[in-house]
Amino acid sequence: MGIHIPDSLVKVLLEARKIGVLTGAGISAESGIPTFRGSGGLWEGYPVEKVATVEGFVEDPELVWRFYDERRKNIARAKPNRAHIALAEMEKHYDMWVITQNIDGLHLEAGSKNVIEMHGNIWRVRCTSCDYRGENREVPLGEIPPRCPKCNSILRPDVVWFGEPVYGVEKAFQVARESDVFFVIGTSAQVHPAASLPYIAKDYGATVVEVNIEKTPVSIIADYVLLGRATEVLDSLLRRLREAWR
Ligand code: APR
Ligand code: ZN
Repeated sequence: MGIHIPDSLVKVLLEARKIGVLTGAGISAESGIPTFRGSGGLWEGYPVEKVATVEGFVEDPELVWRFYDERRKNIARAKPNRAHIALAEMEKHYDMWVITQNIDGLHLEAGSKNVIEMHGNIWRVRCTSCDYRGENREVPLGEIPPRCPKCNSILRPDVVWFGEPVYGVEKAFQVARESDVFFVIGTSAQVHPAASLPYIAKDYGATVVEVNIEKTPVSIIADYVLLGRATEVLDSLLRRLREAWR
């Protein structure tokens, strides 16, 4: 039962030392958090330029904060799933980094330590005027838009919007260059710079392993494309590795 994991991949993983993992919305889908693209995707019902750009925020901070308040309610209910937990377990056996585009914080909650949250974190806020940065876990928000405790200006979510620089880009590219195996899990691989990482990893000699319910642009360069839900694939993979680790 489960997803077929080729013996050759198990062998590569048993010889690997450094592992990089890029994750996207698909890894959190089974925790009940909607993905962005495709039918039923979050961007389907929302104009991206209104809720996920600085320009949109400047124009209507209240609308943007209402959108994020809804997402925060949904994410507050979500728990890490078996895929997040499997990655946290793998970190105990490898020099490993998880590079995520997700803002839900579920990798950290699952116990992964080396996590790069490239697109920020929905529970963090920062001031639009001063240098204040902080955490806000209030669900629902008491005041929309929330205000800075230092200067009373409007706070913004500490997430990366379209056109903004991502967090940890240098470290992420270093991980891609140095990894023996690079996993790409649950991302449509369309948003750069994150989407470049699998190509960099491949160029620098990594075995690229894609995990997704369908093929993506990365599938062409991937050494292994494991089609299935992230939880099923990682369950099957971990079962094989545990047998060998014993
Ligand atoms: N298991 C594995 N993959 C899945 C699952 C699942 N259970 N469910 C969905 N997927 C796959 C889809 O096939 C798709 O390829 O997850 C991917 C989700 O793609 P997107 O919705 O485009 O999400 P993502 O790639 O993370 O988007 C990147 O775009 O809108 C911005 O900032 C936002 O971080 C986000 C970025
Ligand atoms: Zn301030």
